[in-house]
Amino acid sequence: MQNIFDIDEWKIIETNFDPKKQLAAESIFSIGNGAFGQRANFEESYTGESLQGSYVGGVYYPDKTRVGWWKNGYPEYFAKVLNSCNWIGIDIEVDSEKLDLATIQVKHFYRELDMRNGTLTRKFTCELKNGKIIQIKSTRFCSMNDDEIGAISYSIKPINFSGNVTFIPYLDFNVRNSDSNYNEFFWKETNKKSSTSESFISAVTKKSDFNVVVAFNYTISKDGEPLNVNSTKLENKLYVANKFEVLIEQGSEYILEKYVTVISSLNHEKDLESIAVNKAIQSKKNTFHKLLNNHIKSWHSIWDNADVKIEGDLKSQQAIRFNIFQLYQTYTGNNAKLNIGPKGFTGEKYGGATYWDTEAFCLPFFLKTSPKKVAKQLLIYRYNHLKKAILNAEKLGFHSGAALYPMVTMNGEECHNEWEITFEEIHRNGAIAFAIFNYIRHTNDKDYLLKYGRKVLIAIARFWVQRVNWSNKKNKYVILGVTGPNEYENNVNNNWYTNYVARWCILYALKTDNELGKNHGSLISKEEESKWQDISEKMYLPKINNSNIFLQNDGFLDKEFVKAEQLSNNDRPINQNWSWDKILRSVFIKQADVLQGLYFFEEHFDIQTIKENIEFYEPYTVHESSLSACIHSILYSLVKEEEQAYKMFLQTVRLDLDDYNKEVDEGLHITSMPGSWLSIVEGFAGLRIRNNKLFLNPTLPNKWKSYSFNIIFNDQIVNFDIRNDKILIYNKGGNSIDLSINGRDIQILENNKIKIEC
Ligand code: BGC
Repeated sequence: MQNIFDIDEWKIIETNFDPKKQLAAESIFSIGNGAFGQRANFEESYTGESLQGSYVGGVYYPDKTRVGWWKNGYPEYFAKVLNSCNWIGIDIEVDSEKLDLATIQVKHFYRELDMRNGTLTRKFTCELKNGKIIQIKSTRFCSMNDDEIGAISYSIKPINFSGNVTFIPYLDFNVRNSDSNYNEFFWKETNKKSSTSESFISAVTKKSDFNVVVAFNYTISKDGEPLNVNSTKLENKLYVANKFEVLIEQGSEYILEKYVTVISSLNHEKDLESIAVNKAIQSKKNTFHKLLNNHIKSWHSIWDNADVKIEGDLKSQQAIRFNIFQLYQTYTGNNAKLNIGPKGFTGEKYGGATYWDTEAFCLPFFLKTSPKKVAKQLLIYRYNHLKKAILNAEKLGFHSGAALYPMVTMNGEECHNEWEITFEEIHRNGAIAFAIFNYIRHTNDKDYLLKYGRKVLIAIARFWVQRVNWSNKKNKYVILGVTGPNEYENNVNNNWYTNYVARWCILYALKTDNELGKNHGSLISKEEESKWQDISEKMYLPKINNSNIFLQNDGFLDKEFVKAEQLSNNDRPINQNWSWDKILRSVFIKQADVLQGLYFFEEHFDIQTIKENIEFYEPYTVHESSLSACIHSILYSLVKEEEQAYKMFLQTVRLDLDDYNKEVDEGLHITSMPGSWLSIVEGFAGLRIRNNKLFLNPTLPNKWKSYSFNIIFNDQIVNFDIRNDKILIYNKGGNSIDLSINGRDIQILENNKIKIEC
């Protein structure tokens, strides 16, 4: 696989300006801070191909549903995360010629995403049509220290002339979503003011009425000394700017520092304008340098917990840091109203909304790399949507408090509108219950379970209990008409994964209610309890006769069993090259499905069974969902097929950096990024947490000299350093921990290191 960008352990680097790569680079070099994010668009005008993208978390537009044939139960709208105010804009004119990299000669170009410090930097020299050569340097960041602040330092140096340069720093809300269903414009201006000091625009979203106020001010200096300029105010619809001219001298450096605040009604009930303006004033007083330092400090403390160090494989080192970096840019856990969209703040497809990806993939990552409040926020988010999940189920004919969580949501309401997914991909309910279980087995947070988790579990169990039906023929409960995680088959009966997770949900809800019921009363009736028991005992779980292979779904064996390796390059990806009906009839599995279940519930099965299932399913899996390869990698590690585990890991860790799926220009695959971290920690290191105890069963990929990572366990940091001949473990916390390494029990005292020779 060819590298699109240079390899470096802490940086993503681009040393050539290639307009054909600009869309992809805009995604890869995105920055964000969990509250808002920005694609790597240029500050100055750019008329080449580009997706101008600034996104504010949780601010969405209910875009009227577009379907060919309406079906009862479809949601009225699809929530789009909104492309919001372009806050980075700084137009530059050199002796009346606009700086635009699409039209001029770019001589040296360097773009760098510094992941350790969270900054995006660009340096280039260019010759304008008028022969003037200038050098530009820009650095920007979305503050991790104060998630309502963004700042830019933009420097210009004339190389072969002295002359007039016009600077136009601006804010522009005239931005459209490229994925709008009816090409509607989503913003309405409510107020604006352009002044020679602080300027702002206030806009509300049509229909959803979110108010976003963006304010900015700036400083300009020459060779480090402040410059006084006479600026003119510019105002247009949804646009404010300042314009000033500077006579720049050859060899001197002129720096414009732009301070921006992004305030939304999601977090402030009133006075948004004054908050935005005052914060912009304060940011300017604080200076770019100080804001940047605070931002860098915040990033360093994230890395202190979350970094993974790999010796001997620079490409993996770069990529795992890239994935960790993008995950923390997307979600910090500071705000229970926010969640993690599949593209985060890097693009529009999937609407920035919440999918089961959060619970199945992201939560396990945050659970082990952040204090427990971060994973808890993700669970509280779903708790806060419980009423809507119950309403959603009622809309589909369920009753008595049964909840069906949406497949896609921004506010708890379903907004996905393909029947085979909206109505049938109900396994999402299972991932939410599993996330609660996962959180509890890591944290033992009984208080959460009592106040929130139990109610969610019971409502989910009630859904499954009503969704099954008794089959006389099979003498079992069955679940008909579903889509499993494998979206390449719809409306199937008895998808093993769905049936298994449904049964498990019912049992876990029962167990939780029984346990909590002893001191706090039960929330389910005796009749319910016996019905639930009956269903869990008699759930149909399809299997291939005389084998250990769990069956994808009824009818699967009638398919023509052709292996994925027999597909030609022209066929792949099949979702771009084949008709949908051909896909549905084929044996090809989009993503881990039976194997997703074996991953979740591995302790229910012996290793031989897991091995046989992975050997059976891998040849038919095309991994056309970014969520797939990581699950296969973890399972391959579990069954000690190390080469396969590493191969699958590479596919997941460099998915975006190497653009495996040829779609990185649309945005990054944020929610599959934790899969690469899980492939290392749960896969290669074989780390598990069960009943308040740590288990480790490590392997070292052939190419690697060592790898090391931290996890947060019982609120304390434990560092693992895995080498060929030894394992080093450092318990950095104030309490001892119990650990089992390759089956051997060990206790590590507080603030202690141990070395295990292998
Ligand atoms: C996958 C789903 C996933 C969605 C968003 C789809 O391609 O099949 O499992 O939830 O992408 O990432």
